[in-house]
Amino acid sequence: MPKIIAMAGKGGTGKTTLSALITKYLISRGKTPILAVDADANANLNELLDMEIGTTVGQIRKEMKGDIPDNMTRDQYMEMKIHQSLLEAKGFDLLVMGQPDGTGCYCAANQYLAMVMEHLSENYKYILVDNEAGMEHLSRLNLKTIDHLLVISDPSARGIMTAGRVSEITDALGLEVRNKHMIVNRVPEPAPEALIAKINETCEATGLPLGGIFPSSDELIEQELSGGSYLDLDEEIPYIKTAFATFDKILQ
Ligand SMILES: Nc1ncnc2c1ncn2[C@@H]1O[C@H](COP(=O)(O)OP(=O)(O)O)[C@@H](O)[C@H]1O
Ligand SMILES: [Mg+2]
Repeated sequence: MPKIIAMAGKGGTGKTTLSALITKYLISRGKTPILAVDADANANLNELLDMEIGTTVGQIRKEMKGDIPDNMTRDQYMEMKIHQSLLEAKGFDLLVMGQPDGTGCYCAANQYLAMVMEHLSENYKYILVDNEAGMEHLSRLNLKTIDHLLVISDPSARGIMTAGRVSEITDALGLEVRNKHMIVNRVPEPAPEALIAKINETCEATGLPLGGIFPSSDELIEQELSGGSYLDLDEEIPYIKTAFATFDKILQ
């Protein structure tokens, strides 16, 4: 059974950035193969990994509502299509969910998807899901037990309080979360004392343990602008060192 790592948090907090860096981390620690899932309708994890998007799961689910070749059952067809849509790279594959459902019922397509995921999962040590804020794709993908939930927050009081309430979302989706941590990202250096106090207070009050406080990083911004893969960033960059040291502690 693969370990499931899922990202949560508001838009713009750094979920995709950290998904790319966790992929880099797992590869660096030899914890492969990994299935990275871009579960944001506005897919962009591929950009940070410098990969081109092909067919998305959304497109396949839509196709499943129409005619399929006579010589195949629907689950076989779905399985073939999903395998074809996987973007393969060294140490990991990328699966892109794409746009959400159109009108009509997707129940059958979703059932096949759940079956395919069960088979597909067996091929990986880790499944990493870069969610959008809602996280609905997790149950759609049949990923109901999350080994590590990382809740990413911006360095604001309201952001941190919102992050602290993430259990409300996971409970509503019927997800079982084994370990969860808050990561406060883009914190100015030195971190204001009042901010640190607020983080500690919120973590204590909500029962969401603090995983790490990550700085703002010009190297990340520059790499994104250059279009280069985050996998190629130097591990000696302070941000990467902080992130990897945190992952060593919380992703056990
Ligand atoms: N620590 C950081 N320092 C500087 N820029 C960052 C940092 N973390 C994220 N960013 C930038 O913030 C923007 C939003 O990050 P992103 O990972 O796409 O957020 P999300 O996936 O949660 O919407 C991106 O342009 C990203 O490069
Ligand atoms: Mg994102």
